[in-house]
Amino acid sequence: MSIVECEKRSCAPDFDFSEKKIITNSPEETLRVGEKFAGRLKPGSVVALIGDLGSGKTTFIKGVCRGLNVVEESTSPTFTLINEYTGKFPVYHFDFYRIEKASEIYEIGSDEYFYDSGVCLIEWADKVIDFLPKNRIEIYLKNCYREGLENTRKIVVREL
Ligand SMILES: Nc1ncnc2c1ncn2[C@@H]1O[C@H](COP(=O)(O)OP(=O)(O)OP(=O)(O)O)[C@@H](O)[C@H]1O
Ligand SMILES: [Mg+2]
Repeated sequence: MSIVECEKRSCAPDFDFSEKKIITNSPEETLRVGEKFAGRLKPGSVVALIGDLGSGKTTFIKGVCRGLNVVEESTSPTFTLINEYTGKFPVYHFDFYRIEKASEIYEIGSDEYFYDSGVCLIEWADKVIDFLPKNRIEIYLKNCYREGLENTRKIVVREL
């Protein structure tokens, strides 16, 4: 596993993974990256995870939860849109995969979570990006199936 700190830049829709990145070669390595990343989080932090199906968003979040001493097992809230956990801070785990219109997030009162003193971890954040707090951390994940590397993931962390 190699960990490289990424430069601060604004969110670019045409995200290019050729820049500095973290590379993991197993789910456990991605867990460990998430666990280490958790050390940066403070009450009120919002983390937007952006990456394809199976790119490791939930795995990374499980690692973050481990780092925040979350007591519950973290599983993707695919049907409920949000799971709440108890850890060092309250943790709100969102999964917006099934959302059809970004404005649906208001129906679950998401702003109350985004501007709360808990930590928000948001899968499929790109679907609702315009509705997220500007002050957030973005995590880009990419799987490398096409390159024939089944267990390799590229991860980029950007703090806006
Ligand atoms: N280096 C790696 N990092 C993370 N997951 C990996 C890695 N190598 C293989 N995997 C596997 O890839 C899958 C990642 O699944 P995960 O649920 O974390 O992805 P996801 O981005 O949350 O997917 P979804 O979009 O369906 O929510 C798991 O089956 C995991 O075992
Ligand atoms: Mg997931």
